[in-house]
Amino acid sequence: MGPSGSGKSSLLYVLSGLKRPTSGDLSFRGSCYSKMNDKQITELRRKNFGFVFQQPWLLNWQTSLENVMMGAPVIDSSAEELADKCFHRLGIHELRMKQPSQLSGGEKQRVCVARAMMNSPAVIFADEPTASLDQRNGHMVVDLLSEYKEQGTVVIVTHDAAMLSQADRVLVMRDGCPVDWVSPAEAAAGKTYAVSQG
Ligand SMILES: Nc1ncnc2c1ncn2[C@@H]1O[C@H](COP(=O)(O)OP(=O)(O)OP(=O)(O)O)[C@@H](O)[C@H]1O
Ligand SMILES: [Mg+2]
Repeated sequence: MGPSGSGKSSLLYVLSGLKRPTSGDLSFRGSCYSKMNDKQITELRRKNFGFVFQQPWLLNWQTSLENVMMGAPVIDSSAEELADKCFHRLGIHELRMKQPSQLSGGEKQRVCVARAMMNSPAVIFADEPTASLDQRNGHMVVDLLSEYKEQGTVVIVTHDAAMLSQADRVLVMRDGCPVDWVSPAEAAAGKTYAVSQG
């Protein structure tokens, strides 16, 4: 959490290898990003990370199932089976054959969560995944992401402390720097605001 412009998205992009830092380095399971070329970083990302963007980007000319399958290394029948299981697990099986244009914002975002989970990544990064949703749909998306905690790590950027009740800890950002760790209860009580105001 942190004010607008504090570097939350940048942090997620850098952690997930979507952007390269101008200084410093990162490593995942002992491999330094700085020693990898773009192809290797893409591989790292595809094998280990899932990403949910603020806007539910989906290809409109494909079904939800096809959109989710796109996360697979090879698009074949086993990818379809895996995607199918993902839809079941997330309780959105009825959406699989629909085109994105036939879905609500919340439904689209849940399909994006399925796409991020498709390869059982070690880490899912989500950048304000609930920002364009109402409270009910927002909670639904966060619940799906929270369930993933049993399987891997979930890193969520949000402006809404109410979405963090299931978080283990909250990192507060300010002016491009991480400044404090607080508990979800402290975040809900506005401690991030106090810290960000100095
Ligand atoms: N590639 C870049 N090079 C230089 N500066 C950048 C780059 N990307 C973002 N910035 C700057 O870094 C700062 C942090 O941006 P970032 O998008 O990470 O903020 P944020 O905390 O996600 O904000 P918001 O809540 O509005 O989404 C901003 O001042 C932005 O202009
Ligand atoms: Mg941002």
